[in-house]
Amino acid sequence: MRLTDPIIREGPQLKVDYVACDSLGTRGMCVCIQTPDVVVTVDPGASLEPAHFPMPAERRNALLDEYDAAIRSACGRSQLVVISHYHLDHFSERRDTERYGGKTLFVKNQEGLPAKQIETARAFQNVIDGLPKETIIADGRKFKFRKTQISFSPPVWHGAEDAEPGQVIMTEVSWGKEKVLVTSDVGGPLETATTDLIADAKARTVVIDGYPTYMLGQFATDHDLVRSIVNVCRILATPAVKTVVLDHHMARDYRYPALFKLVYEKAKQLKKQFGTAAEVMGRTSAVLEGYQNYGPTRWHKWFPLEAADARAVLERAVAEGKLGKDWPSLFDGWVA
Ligand SMILES: [Fe+2]
Ligand SMILES: [Fe+2]
Repeated sequence: MRLTDPIIREGPQLKVDYVACDSLGTRGMCVCIQTPDVVVTVDPGASLEPAHFPMPAERRNALLDEYDAAIRSACGRSQLVVISHYHLDHFSERRDTERYGGKTLFVKNQEGLPAKQIETARAFQNVIDGLPKETIIADGRKFKFRKTQISFSPPVWHGAEDAEPGQVIMTEVSWGKEKVLVTSDVGGPLETATTDLIADAKARTVVIDGYPTYMLGQFATDHDLVRSIVNVCRILATPAVKTVVLDHHMARDYRYPALFKLVYEKAKQLKKQFGTAAEVMGRTSAVLEGYQNYGPTRWHKWFPLEAADARAVLERAVAEGKLGKDWPSLFDGWVA
């Protein structure tokens, strides 16, 4: 069967399965979405959590094996598989029949990607040659499967504009009035243009990679963390949005409940469902469970990020010419 062929399948409504995410204990953001017409798995890959993840290597390896098997099983029941970009926590470069065999594979266009990702993408295409039913460059395109619509955003930045990791595509799946948006790696989101696209999509459920706080002091900054908090609060305030899942990068840092306190408070105030994938499923995030069981690794003392501190961070960044003048008022409008 090809893209345009009807898929004979009936079901109740759109279902979202958080297959493998950092909050479950493995590095990734694989989401499987089932509509009455089709099953689609977004980003069928996972990697080992880093050493600062508060679990012994043996346990982290076991979780990777467990969730990699879950990803293969999700792909096994999917007709469509999406690869948002070519980082190895978002796809597997192995020739894997269960993951790719007979699938319609939607992939990020290689054009404009960093050289390393283009190299990875080309090698991957050679490795899986002949396995998928078809491979479609998805950037900015829309597809219809009976009543299901699948839309891909134009390329958006992997975090900050012009940053080294390049760009990704976001995936939207809708059936009737129900819509799920999976952003892939947008770093919070960090960029206003990306946040505009997410808010304008009017999805009921939005799955986002939270800001990589574990890199604060290295590649990440406190003003970008606050910028991402403003953007998530703006997404939460979108009337159509009922659930926001923040996971992936943010769920590798056991300080996240303190660092994202303002977002948890805003979600509560707006009566929106919010949390990591584990939390939305009524579980404890793996990084917090690890911290409780094995104690701290890299961070020993930290404080909740309160509104006054966050606003001061923005004011300092504006004074230093790192952010536009409007950020403190955006903070007042969306967060405070
Ligand atoms: Fe990535
Ligand atoms: Fe990633």
